[in-house]
Amino acid sequence: MTSAVPPPLRLQFRGGDAGNWRVRRQLTIAGESLPEVAHLDTAGTASPARWILTGFTSNLRYTAATERQVLAGIQAPLGRPEARLAALLPIRKSPRWWALAQDERLAIYRRSQHYAIGLDYLPAIARRLFHSRDLGEPFDFLTWFEFAAADETAFDHMLDRLRASEEWQYVDREIDYRLAAAA
Ligand code: HEM
Repeated sequence: MTSAVPPPLRLQFRGGDAGNWRVRRQLTIAGESLPEVAHLDTAGTASPARWILTGFTSNLRYTAATERQVLAGIQAPLGRPEARLAALLPIRKSPRWWALAQDERLAIYRRSQHYAIGLDYLPAIARRLFHSRDLGEPFDFLTWFEFAAADETAFDHMLDRLRASEEWQYVDREIDYRLAAAA
């Protein structure tokens, strides 16, 4: 059965001196960093920005129908009042990854247990994946997560597991922004 797919949502993440999220910590995990900023604006109201990252939501590439059904039944929405913390992880994958065929990428994604690992942390962690590569952006993906303070340790544990996976051998640029809702 097909379910309604929402139209793509295009979003700007604007780093600067003002914005609806305060930057608690910025860690460069791989590759080149970005200039440090005090705030992140996702509401499109703060100006001016030191840097802007743009992404859009898209159709699924690697998720089987049954997995999609499971996710839809478990995952929490963004914007929960108790989820005062967030993380933005811009990610770029290497030319070696993009040179692979789709079935080869899918095999790596599956061997890496990305879906199974992620599932362990739902519904505590709410998430949204933005694609950037096709816009010619510096990152291929902008990954966004929202959670309560009590769940940050679990979030870190999930990152350890994903970063130890085969899939992450293809990640050549990654920055980890930890944020708190401003005001
Ligand atoms: C919160 C638990 C998580 C779940 C349930 C989850 C689930 C998924 C799923 C189902 C996909 C495939 C989407 C598709 O079919 O195209 C995906 C892709 C992706 N996820 Fe996760 N994920 C989680 C956490 C994370 C984390 C913490 C990161 C980053 C550190 C991350 C980074 C990505 C990236 C970059 C992709 C795109 C991969 C590609 O297209 O090459 N995910 N995730």
